[in-house]
Parts: sequence; structure tokens; C-alpha cells
Amino acid sequence: MFLAHLLHQTGVECVVLEARGREYVEGRVRAGVLEQNTVRLMHRLGIGARVAREGLVHAGTTLCVDGESFHVNFSDLTDGGAITVYGQSEVMKDLNLSADRLGIRVIYDAADVAPRGLDGSQPVIHWNKRGSRHELECDFVVGCDGYHGVSRASIPAAELETVERVYPFGWLGILADVPPCNHELVYANHDHGFALASMRSPTRSRCYLQCSLDDQVDEWSDQRFWDEFELRIGADFTSKITRGPSFEKSIAPLRSFVCTTMRWGRLFLAGDAAHIVPPTGAKGLNLAVADVVVLGDALAAWYGAGDDRGLNDYARRALDRVWKAERFSWWLTNLTHRFPDRDRFERHMQIAEFAYLRQSRAAQASFAENYVGLPLDF
Ligand code: DHB
Repeated sequence: MFLAHLLHQTGVECVVLEARGREYVEGRVRAGVLEQNTVRLMHRLGIGARVAREGLVHAGTTLCVDGESFHVNFSDLTDGGAITVYGQSEVMKDLNLSADRLGIRVIYDAADVAPRGLDGSQPVIHWNKRGSRHELECDFVVGCDGYHGVSRASIPAAELETVERVYPFGWLGILADVPPCNHELVYANHDHGFALASMRSPTRSRCYLQCSLDDQVDEWSDQRFWDEFELRIGADFTSKITRGPSFEKSIAPLRSFVCTTMRWGRLFLAGDAAHIVPPTGAKGLNLAVADVVVLGDALAAWYGAGDDRGLNDYARRALDRVWKAERFSWWLTNLTHRFPDRDRFERHMQIAEFAYLRQSRAAQASFAENYVGLPLDF
């Protein structure tokens, strides 16, 4: 939807095919932290009014190891940088409303989407909707259809290069209508595992616990969740926790994944279709936005002046940022989680890294510049 807006601004016609319904897209619980690049783009696209009003600007975060916490001030370390807490569901509502107004075509409930002829000069997409078959001839297909989507699966296996790391734990996340235990996010590394205190609003908490991949959601009552969260989050915040019933509870695995084949013929992959980061550091949505900023420029140059250099350079430019985001998310996951297979040496390395981060302005500046978002030209 970001790309559809970017293309609309340059006068390039596009059609968005969405497998799900609009309510699902606007309702599902996903990311919640926007880099300043993402917020800036929302303003550029004319959809920034609500995030400016309702988004929670955080100029820092707190890290906690074995119960002891310290604060990292993004704003001081990055010349005024900050992140904005604003749910992906809210971003989707803003994009969809704007698409309605601008007349951007979005086809919901498009089933059995099948791109064909991607290695030729005139790809065609087929899909089913309400029992009838549809087809669309296009210049390019952009696969923004997630890790399980049809786009990456359309590239012949022999042409596909992927790199992957699966982590030996998951995240159990809840949403509850209770005030967060801190005005900013708290990342905690405790003997029992990672905990994260996040939020969606001043009255809605989003909290996570590292859990075993074998755990089932129904083994985690609200009481068990809050007991464990209280234990892990650290003494400075325990007494500030307000417990309340969760209305969403789910377990997600953690994975790092990069498909370096981000372009194949007239197919371009963007976002989760091409790469997955573990959620630690909240880079997933922001990275998808960065991909389509690069691609939007490249497509504008092709349609405007017949210049294909941007398209030919898309994968290289996108991957340059993707690997940096992969590094940061992997690093923060390594720092904050308990790895069942690691030995005492590695535990000491983790504690030493925290100690260094706590005392070194240079180390904190590196953390902060990645967290608020590396520079993105647009
Ligand atoms: C969320 C926030 C984070 O900072 C993070 O690293 C992962 C997830 C969230 O609120 O969903």
C-alpha cells in the first residue's frame, strides 16, 4: 500500500491484490514501532495527520539485565532522533482511507493469485474472486505478499538464493487494556528469558515473553503470563505493572531470512516476501517501507525517462539496508535472549556486552542510530 501511494504520486497506475479482506488487514495485530523514516514517508504521502496526533514519540528505551536497568537516550545520541509507537493496524487504516480518496484500486479477497510470464516482457496475473476468474496484464509484478506468499514461490528454485537462521525459542505476546508499566519500552534479559514491555497507547499494553517453541498458548493463562512478566521485567518496573485480562495472545517463532534474489525478470520482491527479521528491534515493517522507497524511485525513473538503472540496481540497494537490519535484529536478539544451547562463556559475553553498552556512549550511539532507523534517502 505504501508502494501503491508512491506510484500514484508519480502517475503510475497500479492494482493491489490482497488475499484477505479489508477488516482482517486493518484488525490483525502486528508491528507497533515506526522509524522516523516511516513517519516522514507517511507525512510525504499525506497520511501523517493521525500518527502526528495519536502516535507516541519515544526518545529512548530502557534495557534491563538480571533485574538491573539502564536508559538509552536516542534523542541525545542521534541528534534528536526518536521512534513512534503506532500500530501497523492504524497505519493500514490510514493507507486504506487514503487509497479510497485517491482512487487507488485495491482488490480484496483475491484468491488463488497466480503470476505468469514473469521472465518475459508482459507478465499476467490471474486470480479468483467470488467464483469468477480474473486476469490482468502488467509491466511489472511486485511481490509484497509476505513470507508465505506466491511471489517468491514463483521464482524457479535453481534461480533462488536464500540464507536463514531459525532461533531456538519463540515470543509469546499479549495485548491488554491496561496502562504500560513504563512510558517507554523496556527490553529485559532475565535468567528465565527475554521480556519486552511495549504498548499501543497510554491505556493499551503489548507485552512479550520469550517462550519455548513447544509451548502452547492455552498453557499460558493470564495469571501465569503476568507472574512471569513481573519476574523478568526488572525491579524498577515490577511495582508499576497493572495486570488485566488479555484480549489477544499468540506465539510467534523467531527467524532471520534473506532471499538475495529480490528481482527475477519482471518480478520484484519487497518486505517479508524477501526477508524476515526476528521482531527484536521492530525492523520488519520499517524495512518493507524502505524497500518500496527504493523500488518506487526506480519505477518512477523507468516510467519517466525509460531509465532502467534503478530497476537493475534495486536488489543491490535494498539488500545493502536489509543486511544491516538483519545484523541489528540478530545482535539485539542475541543480547537479550537466553539460548538453551549456549555455554557459560557465551553468557559472560552477553553480560559483558550489556556492561559495555551501559558505560559506553559510542556503543549506545550505535544502538540508537540503528533503532531510530539508518538514513534513508527520499
Ligand atoms: C514491538 C516493539 C519492539 O520494540 C520490538 O522490538 C518488537 C515488537 C511491539 O510493540 O510489537
